[in-house]
Amino acid sequence: MKKLDIIEQEAVWIQPTYTRQPIVLVKGNGAYVWDTEGRKYLDFVAGIAVNNVGHCHPKVVDAIKRQAELLIHTSNLYFTEPQVVLARRLCEIAGMRKAFFCNSGAEAVEGAIKLAKRYTGKSKIIAARGSFHGRTAGSLSLTDSPKYQAPFMPLMPGVEFIPYNDVDALAERIDDETAAVILEPVQGESGVNIPDDDYLKGVREICDEKEVLLIFDEVQTGFGRTGRWFGKDHADVLPDIMTLGKAIAGGLPMGAVLSSEGVEFAPGEHASTFGGGPLICSAAIATIEAIESEDLVRNSAKMGEILLHKLRSLDLSIVREIRGRGLMIGMELEKAGAGIVDIFRESGVLINCTAETVLRFVPPLIIGEREISGLIQVFDERRDEIESV
Ligand SMILES: Cc1ncc(COP(=O)(O)O)c(C=O)c1O
Repeated sequence: MKKLDIIEQEAVWIQPTYTRQPIVLVKGNGAYVWDTEGRKYLDFVAGIAVNNVGHCHPKVVDAIKRQAELLIHTSNLYFTEPQVVLARRLCEIAGMRKAFFCNSGAEAVEGAIKLAKRYTGKSKIIAARGSFHGRTAGSLSLTDSPKYQAPFMPLMPGVEFIPYNDVDALAERIDDETAAVILEPVQGESGVNIPDDDYLKGVREICDEKEVLLIFDEVQTGFGRTGRWFGKDHADVLPDIMTLGKAIAGGLPMGAVLSSEGVEFAPGEHASTFGGGPLICSAAIATIEAIESEDLVRNSAKMGEILLHKLRSLDLSIVREIRGRGLMIGMELEKAGAGIVDIFRESGVLINCTAETVLRFVPPLIIGEREISGLIQVFDERRDEIESV
């Protein structure tokens, strides 16, 4: 099919939930993707923080091919080796004890909600202002966005929001009905909001004192994105429950709920037909191996620092603030950023704008200085247009 046919047919056959960029992608390799016209793009979106090991990483592709020829799906009525190997690797890396596998970030959050309620026997969950935890009914209830929530009311009851980065506000809000507090270690969708260094530790202390569970939603911050394996590692704090997704399986859809000692479901209390199938688990194991063998967590920290410095040195008149941790960087503008995304795409670089005014840079963790220069070059060459958009 030709590009325009695909775009036209999409409008006919697919729910209009997405505002898409006007390109049709056909191929990816490392930090680059190609469209139907053969045009190459430097990808600083990475499938929205998914392709951490780059597009079509050979280790991941090999693992998928090998496993696809052996066994793709069995259901969770039977044991499979890849699921057990992956659970152990994830728990070892994250410092947790048990894994439950599902198929997306939102589904992981759903699992975390159920696990927290089940473990505590309580129903109230506290989330933060500016949070994003997904679009399914339960996860949407924890997502602080009147725009996303309004058409779907009433949502899950018993949710309260507190300001992010404010330990005292949290302490005041916890009561006898509180099961858990859920937080992103760095808020992604609302614009790369980084809390103070002592915030997560303070939250951990309050949760211990008041005996409520602490859930870290690491769907976006996981797998080296912030320059450590997980966002929590910057604060050296362990949650009771962790949610994972996005980068976990090298680009294939997967979610996971990790939990600490004793925080467990009983048989039959939760399930997923596809969760933790052998194909996806093999891809996830290969993804972890690629992150380790290529030292991508360290590269994320190193390239993140360089990129942050270069972005700040641009000294653009329209920038309010530039925030970042590893290769999760947000440039908050004085105005809407959609027009700047277009300018970059025309120049062969894909970037994303979140929360209307924040340009978000979440490239694959494999990038080097060449890719950083590729991004900065567009700022240099089209500075006047970018500043006047
Ligand atoms: C922190 C966080 N949690 C949950 C989700 C939902 O993940 P998914 O889109 O895979 O359902 C996202 C997606 O952006 C996210 O950033």
